[in-house]
Amino acid sequence: MIQEVLRMGDPRLLRVAQPVTDFAAPELHALLRDMRDTMAQLDGAGLAAPQIGVDLRVVIFGGMANPRYPDAPAVPDTVLINPHLDPLSAEEEEGWEGCLSVPGLRGWVPRWSKLRYAGFDEAGRRFERTVDGFHARVVQHECDHLDGILYPMRLRDMRLFGFQDVLPPDARSSIAD
Ligand code: NI
Repeated sequence: MIQEVLRMGDPRLLRVAQPVTDFAAPELHALLRDMRDTMAQLDGAGLAAPQIGVDLRVVIFGGMANPRYPDAPAVPDTVLINPHLDPLSAEEEEGWEGCLSVPGLRGWVPRWSKLRYAGFDEAGRRFERTVDGFHARVVQHECDHLDGILYPMRLRDMRLFGFQDVLPPDARSSIAD
């Protein structure tokens, strides 16, 4: 079922979310259905459980057949639960980001260029991946939501934060969510 996405200012977006302990719980699978429905409806690149008010360490992302990001390389459809991220170098890259919880805005955000992430899929199986570029950016954005961090809190230059339809064209087709 499509759920309302909380917007910046709602204190529920600022919590440190709780780990999932029961992968068989029907509530977890209902949550994942709701997250998929909501992300698809809003054309997001990803969604974190806290964005629909659920205080659990669950994110989904991928499905880059997305008209908003025609130039983005494919990221596999992923369910990532109780994630752990490790940067593989101190190198960062900056890019435009948006967020379904910060509608209409975009900001220029630094992220680790390359990282390894590990976590569990919806069946409770552990997996890990080494990723860079867009995939690395999406994972960092989504996992930040689990620690109560929204991308505007990562901005280093507030001049590079604004309305999507006013910013330069490269910001308009940038990633979100
Ligand atoms: Ni977001």
